[in-house]
Amino acid sequence: MTQLILANDVGQLAQQACSWLTQLIVQHQKASQAPFSLALAGGSTPKALYQLLAATSKSSGIDWSRVLFLWGDERNVAIDHADSNARMAHEALLNHLPILPDQILAMPTDGVDAKMAAELYESKLRERLQVQRGGFGVIDCILLGMGDDVHTASLFPETAALKETTRWVVANYVDKLSTWRVTMTAPLINAATNIGFFIAGPSKTAALKTLWHGPQNVELYPSQMIRPVDGELTFFVDSAAVDGLTIPPDFRTVK
Ligand code: 6PG
Repeated sequence: MTQLILANDVGQLAQQACSWLTQLIVQHQKASQAPFSLALAGGSTPKALYQLLAATSKSSGIDWSRVLFLWGDERNVAIDHADSNARMAHEALLNHLPILPDQILAMPTDGVDAKMAAELYESKLRERLQVQRGGFGVIDCILLGMGDDVHTASLFPETAALKETTRWVVANYVDKLSTWRVTMTAPLINAATNIGFFIAGPSKTAALKTLWHGPQNVELYPSQMIRPVDGELTFFVDSAAVDGLTIPPDFRTVK
């Protein structure tokens, strides 16, 4: 089942996403002793959400010692580089939480090439994710952004990673950026229990129209690959991104 939460702007998007994620974590922690595995998205849209999670971290009811932080993808840069997804998440969220280094599984980028980084990261995930679904580790919640070319994580159009059917994490050469990325694969993402897409701003309207109403072509529009096998997909979109688009009739719109 796919649900849609429509926000007036990116600030309200962050608030709605923060309460959604807080509820997921608190409910999980009431029901299970297993750590809540949360894969963070890169890019800029989720930053406001991370800042809000940090600001509400003491009052949220979340036991942060029982959250495992992962990443959906990473750029091929050191963690102190301005483009690092891990750096953004540390500055906006992780540095402000009462957590131990062992709870943070960043994709290795220091002194290893992308292929080795992907192999190392996959073996870490195999160690830390206790449940598997169809041969893939089950992550409790994966946060995703979407580019204006309909890519998500580092699953870019017409790249080799789109064809991966067994690996959990791969190195992916992105021609248009002339760089390697490390990314979770679509089958790993689709094994998740909850997937949240955060899409905001007028630059995403065309991509959102293609995602929801365009021709089915995952090679050109990789975000179309994201269909949870058993889990729930939630779109957090702001009105600027939706801008007159028809909401797919099978989506449950949550006010
Ligand atoms: C990355 C992200 C990428 C991002 C989208 C949207 O490493 O760049 O994982 O998939 O989520 O490009 O980015 P914005 O939120 O900045 O528009």
